[in-house]
Amino acid sequence: MSTCMNLEGKSAIVTGGSVGIGAAIALKLAACGANVALNYRKHREEAEAVLDQITAMGRKGLLVQADISNFSDAGKMVDTVVEAFGRIDILVNNAGVNWDGVIWKMSEEQWDNVLDINLKGYFNYIRAVAPVFREQQSGRIINVTSINGLRGKFGQSNYAASKAGIIGLTKTVARELGKYNVNVNAVAPGLIETDMMKNADESVRTAALEDIVMKRIGQPDDVANMVAFLCTELARHVTGEVIKVDGGQYI
Ligand SMILES: NC(=O)c1ccc[n+]([C@@H]2O[C@H](COP(=O)([O-])OP(=O)(O)OC[C@H]3O[C@@H](n4cnc5c(N)ncnc54)[C@H](OP(=O)(O)O)[C@@H]3O)[C@@H](O)[C@H]2O)c1
Repeated sequence: MSTCMNLEGKSAIVTGGSVGIGAAIALKLAACGANVALNYRKHREEAEAVLDQITAMGRKGLLVQADISNFSDAGKMVDTVVEAFGRIDILVNNAGVNWDGVIWKMSEEQWDNVLDINLKGYFNYIRAVAPVFREQQSGRIINVTSINGLRGKFGQSNYAASKAGIIGLTKTVARELGKYNVNVNAVAPGLIETDMMKNADESVRTAALEDIVMKRIGQPDDVANMVAFLCTELARHVTGEVIKVDGGQYI
């Protein structure tokens, strides 16, 4: 058994790999040796820059513009990756959005948009890789959720519901695919320094720092390190887990 974070020869899909946590995960997996396919919706230039860095490391890279809430696009992306890389070993469901509002003001559109992307989007990619993983008798699925899916958050009923849904999805799929040697885990970040956070009020940052026992805002790489670990042979006996990466923000 390898004793370091080695993903040599593995092939991965990272959803939402253009910026933020997804970009950090894509680069980390490539640094550990994996070929990486990523998708994005809007940040084309940033996604191309991530792809360039992956290929500069000597790995194969692939870029797809696809909205994760589209079911058939997910199937097409998985087929494209299998064709381009010859196999698929890792799915990291990361792409997500928030559209906050208190429950008494939340529109149907706000609710549907966040649930369609954050929850159905994760289902779409799991549904597409599951037959492949089952057939090859191996695979890793890592779903990026949030501590707000565990504790709830004022003004985020749609987001917290989607993130809690991801936890139920993770545990169920872990049970269903375990006998096919497929590990399924969730990583729950606390506040992480990305664009998603830039839209938040300064008070959110201040309040978070009061709760974070490590007294620093997390960086995308902090999450990427945990995801990479879960993809390796080192984590072969870990499944159905929700691992917080939050500096103790929610203990
Ligand atoms: N930042 C935090 O504090 C924090 C905390 C807990 C959990 N998380 C979770 O971590 C994940 C990444 O968050 P982040 O902070 O890195 O966010 P971010 O900086 O806003 O990046 C989001 C990524 O998702 C992609 N994306 C969004 N909607 C998409 C769609 N419909 N189809 C395809 N791609 C889509 C974006 O691509 P384009 O921009 O190119 O469209 C981008 O690559 C999310 O699931 C988020 O809920 C974040």
